[in-house]
Amino acid sequence: MSNIKRIAVFTSGGDAPGMNAAIRAVVRTAIYHDLHVYGITGGYDGMINGKIDRLETRDVGNIMQRGGTILKTARSMEFMTEEGRRKAYDSLLANDIDGCVAIGGNGTFAGALRFSEEYNIPFVGLPGTIDNDLFGTDYTIGFDTAINTAMRAVDKIRDTADSHNRLFFIEVMGRHAGYIALHTGIGSGANNVFLPEVDNSIEELVEELRLSAKRLKLFNLVIVAEGNKNGNAHEIANKVKELIPQFDTKVAVIGHLQRGGAPTCLDRVLASRLGYAAVEGLVNGHVNEAIGIVNDEITFTPFEQAIHGKKELNRDLLKMASILAM
Ligand code: F6P
Repeated sequence: MSNIKRIAVFTSGGDAPGMNAAIRAVVRTAIYHDLHVYGITGGYDGMINGKIDRLETRDVGNIMQRGGTILKTARSMEFMTEEGRRKAYDSLLANDIDGCVAIGGNGTFAGALRFSEEYNIPFVGLPGTIDNDLFGTDYTIGFDTAINTAMRAVDKIRDTADSHNRLFFIEVMGRHAGYIALHTGIGSGANNVFLPEVDNSIEELVEELRLSAKRLKLFNLVIVAEGNKNGNAHEIANKVKELIPQFDTKVAVIGHLQRGGAPTCLDRVLASRLGYAAVEGLVNGHVNEAIGIVNDEITFTPFEQAIHGKKELNRDLLKMASILAM
């Protein structure tokens, strides 16, 4: 029998579409197991400030289709301090919380690991970030929605690029990871993708563009992950313009559009599975682990490994993308 009787759920870091579906799954699975469940508003900041409220089945009704997070989110500076974590512990204790479900990315898991080294309240982490950069899961909650949003935006840019015979640099999110850029690039048939994980060369790109002009390709799309090594889309476009001024070059930055909107069905299903399994995991004694889905199976990865493990980008896809965009 589990000792867990009262659990809390919160979202932290950048919001991601599907977080609400995950909250719903956590709350309803907890109630199914006769647990009392609480929502912490505002991530670790809310934990520090005692913003902890009971959630019932109906509190999470009609939220699955909504982007953002009903529990709000934050990147907490105070939780990085010992004093902050002590206050957070006091708040959890005051509410008799004996297990937490943390929905977020790497920073969220790092906070949970730090906390677990100091205090004995178990955490389970749910991968919620549009970046898909977490080790221990094939996909993160919000990624599928973000790439569909980005792809649709690129489809629209393609129309105008085609009409005017232009070269477009389109910047997507991903400070440290190129999954959004890579998938958006393949899905929208872009000529090239600039990624944080790759040493892209401006000179090689220019050569490709010259070749593409010879093949009578009249418009070109390059997807730029914000964290790539050559600078942002404007900087790259300026360097390219110097080398091939004859190309009519434009820039579009998709930005936070990628973070919002109704989650796709895949994200809702992923979030539901992970939320359900997180509560089952806590009840069954999983402590300080991140939950994920690998090859369609639920997995648990110790926070330490989830934080420091490197999820490798499939580089074969890069070659394929460039061949297909010929
Ligand atoms: O981690 C998710 C993410 O959307 C990144 O892709 C992006 O670089 C970052 O968050 C932006 O964060 P903020 O909304 O705090 O500017």
